[in-house]
Amino acid sequence: MTSRTQDPRPAGADVPGSVEEAITSRKSARAFLPTPVPRETVEQVLALAARSPSATNTQPWRVYVAMGKVRDALAFDLCAAFDDPDFPQEPGYAFYPDPMPEPYLSRRRDLGWKLYGLLGIDRGDPEARHKQHGRNFRFFDAPVGLFFTVERCMERGSWLDIGMFMQTAMLAARGMGLHTCPQAVFVPYHKVIRKHLPIPDTEVMACGMSLGYADPAKIENTLVSPRDPVTGFASFLGC
Ligand SMILES: Cc1cc2nc3c(=O)[nH]c(=O)nc-3n(C[C@H](O)[C@H](O)[C@H](O)COP(=O)(O)O)c2cc1C
Repeated sequence: MTSRTQDPRPAGADVPGSVEEAITSRKSARAFLPTPVPRETVEQVLALAARSPSATNTQPWRVYVAMGKVRDALAFDLCAAFDDPDFPQEPGYAFYPDPMPEPYLSRRRDLGWKLYGLLGIDRGDPEARHKQHGRNFRFFDAPVGLFFTVERCMERGSWLDIGMFMQTAMLAARGMGLHTCPQAVFVPYHKVIRKHLPIPDTEVMACGMSLGYADPAKIENTLVSPRDPVTGFASFLGC
């Protein structure tokens, strides 16, 4: 699914052969290889993502790409903020309801225990959990960090467009043998991110994302997140 002449992919990087395969092989990777991703490849991913639909073609997405020294300095400051128990986290927007209702609470817990279970992290070991959670802020060692913002003045409709943009970016990345991890974990740390990236105050940080080549040897990348069957969420009428 790629026409690039200079192929930066590491040997053995899997490339899906169809849209269906791109969809089914997409997963949130949480361990990346140090293999660099050229700026042109990221631009290609974003150009494909920009083919996403948006209501009345408003294209309300903004993307900030952190690579190289910018990415490294940002990761350093984010890790320091995460490790500081007094760091004033600032959720830019409400992500989940509080309290989280069922069945969502159970699904969230199940995902967490599956991941920690794979990594051999005990439920009663908050230090090990903190360390693993902290890997988010190092972009799970991916060479590219993406940040998606939306203008504060836009309403919820535009957030649908941002979500579609992100999903298209993730599938486009798959088409090039890359993997991603969408990350809302960055949102309460947006002030740290704003120190490194020129995000105006008129834009809300919607989500972050790690992008790179997944490390196939890492056990966390074998995690298969479950899904409800179609009959669990779809209602068919008139058939
Ligand atoms: C908006 C959004 C935010 C997410 N934030 C995080 C995050 O901060 N850290 C993380 O490790 N995974 C994050 N994820 C990944 C989800 O945990 C993952 O998509 C879900 O468990 C399904 O697994 P899959 O992506 O491997 O199919 C996020 C996903 C989405 C869509």
